[in-house]
Amino acid sequence: MSTPHNQATVGEIAKTVLMPGDPLRAKFLAENYLEDVHQFNSVRNMFGYTGTYKGKKVSIMGSGMGQPSIGIYSHELYNFYDVESIIRIGSCGAMQENIHLRDIIIVQGACTDSNFAHQFELPGTYSAISSYELLEKAVNQAKEKGVTYHVGNVIASDLFYHADKGSTEKWAHMGCLGAEMESYALFANAAYYGKKALTLLTVSDSLVTQEETTAEEREKTFTAMMEIALEIAE
Ligand code: HPA
Repeated sequence: MSTPHNQATVGEIAKTVLMPGDPLRAKFLAENYLEDVHQFNSVRNMFGYTGTYKGKKVSIMGSGMGQPSIGIYSHELYNFYDVESIIRIGSCGAMQENIHLRDIIIVQGACTDSNFAHQFELPGTYSAISSYELLEKAVNQAKEKGVTYHVGNVIASDLFYHADKGSTEKWAHMGCLGAEMESYALFANAAYYGKKALTLLTVSDSLVTQEETTAEEREKTFTAMMEIALEIAE
């Protein structure tokens, strides 16, 4: 069986899927970290691969940018491919002064300006959180690796370019550590379908100091984050 966005058959995708936003990064990671790699998707160039890491079956697939895109792919992975865990591996803009370029953020919760959770017809505001089980494992791995990490809330926005220039400060005031665009939809889908999700982010730019990392620097931190994700994959 395939879906409108994924040509894989059931069984081709592992129980845990790592999701970078960029499908070409999924390709690079699969080719460099996994053994016995097999490509299961190329619909819309949203490449997906399954292979093994230290003998463990793991999949890596692009999510695209934004909540609608990760909303579609995570829905299909959870509902049609028996996927149990999705670990997003992405980048974010830092929103606090003590968070520096290349630090890792292990996402505990996601705030949003998106309407994504309206579909669940809840009588209030849904707080999207990651799987504590995955989060605890990620923290342990980060400690073991000696990387600088922070655990907390992020703002998962529908906007990269904001007309309201003060929006970042308002979310920062509420304690958000970083800005990205996918975790709310991912965590909400995981909750609704009884599955697990976690997001690991490397800080690619700072919304406080306006510094940016070079492509080469991003690559390096991405490696540490990727290794954490691969180690905790179930
Ligand atoms: N905003 C949203 N998403 C991002 C950012 C940002 O500043 N940086 C990296 N991903």
